[in-house]
Amino acid sequence: MVHVATRGDVPARLGPDVPQLPGWGTTVVDREVYADPARFELEREHVLRRSWILAGRSVEIPEPGDWLSFEGHGETAVITRQRDGSLAAFHNVCQHRGPSFVKADKGCGARRFSCPYHGWVYDTTGKLVGVPEREDFDAEELQGLRAPLAKADEWGGWIWLYLDGDDADAPSLTDWIGADITTDLGRFEMENMILDDKLVWDVPVSYKAIVDGFNEVYHATELHSSPPEFTKAARNTSFWFSGQNSMMFVPRYQTLDKLAETGDHLRYSICHYVVFPNTVFNCNPQHIQVFNPIPIDVDRTRFITWQLIYPGDRSDPEYNKYWETTQAHWEVLKKVVGEDISIYDQLSRTKRSPAYTKNILSDRECKIGKYHDTMQRLVTERSGVKLADPIHRKPPAAS
Ligand code: FES
Ligand SMILES: [Fe+2]
Repeated sequence: MVHVATRGDVPARLGPDVPQLPGWGTTVVDREVYADPARFELEREHVLRRSWILAGRSVEIPEPGDWLSFEGHGETAVITRQRDGSLAAFHNVCQHRGPSFVKADKGCGARRFSCPYHGWVYDTTGKLVGVPEREDFDAEELQGLRAPLAKADEWGGWIWLYLDGDDADAPSLTDWIGADITTDLGRFEMENMILDDKLVWDVPVSYKAIVDGFNEVYHATELHSSPPEFTKAARNTSFWFSGQNSMMFVPRYQTLDKLAETGDHLRYSICHYVVFPNTVFNCNPQHIQVFNPIPIDVDRTRFITWQLIYPGDRSDPEYNKYWETTQAHWEVLKKVVGEDISIYDQLSRTKRSPAYTKNILSDRECKIGKYHDTMQRLVTERSGVKLADPIHRKPPAAS
């Protein structure tokens, strides 16, 4: 039968003895975090280039020479499978006069990539290996030339990309995701899941406004018309900070008795993990949605949703039942995501309105406040630019 994630020796995340809130308090966030183009430029350079971001599924490039490309926030990179099974990654920028030289999204069995403009040739690690009419160029300029390196690694069946290949201080991928999430989310064994569906939208708002929507459960009652039983159970949601990342566990109202009996949040809650800055895992007990808002510009986002299920043989009645149940639930969730997108449209209507000045966040929206605080800290620490602090936090009164 399909894998069922269980808690095992993972710490308790829900229950009478487990705190629900991380002690952050309430927050006011100025609207400029979504709207200021200068701030977005700093984020691009100092945060988006220097964070581990999603690029695809490992199974998309199983064989040597298989490759896929990433495109977002004005950058494009190619990731290739090497003969030893490792990954190489490089910026998809021809060093002759600057165009991207790999045009498609993905391909297989490549040995070389050749620029469509004048035919410069790169190997699968991005090294320049061929220049037509080479003798016309200054040899010194061509010496050792390559498309600049990026870093790529794999965890959970996902390919992750770190665009700044020269960053000597880059954390390892598993350090970036952190032990809390690799342990907890690791129980789902995503590396053994298969891609069931992938949806892509172009939405006219900041990627951070989309992450916000996945950092709270408050909107489910109104926007998603969740039943009162959901709302009541969701009052016991627990919220966790984990370095720059965060987690949230929403008790499933259908199985509250089993949750109370076993304390197994993996089995009986919706487990939710946000890997900063833009990777969101939403784990129902038997299938997972991965939400990936990729910034294109300060107020434009390519929003990808991946649906993962466990594989099996549909001629096996037990597996077929699992498959039908997850398909039915996925149909419901697609409608739910559509409702989220309807709010992005509403947000886009007020983008330039002086009537919108700030977000007023409750203590249960603490993950949103913390997320923007982390972004502010990373941008200012790494860039040295003193930006006015848009985060106004009121910690909880000491009890
Ligand atoms: S721009 Fe790529 S070969 Fe000239
Ligand atoms: Fe939602």
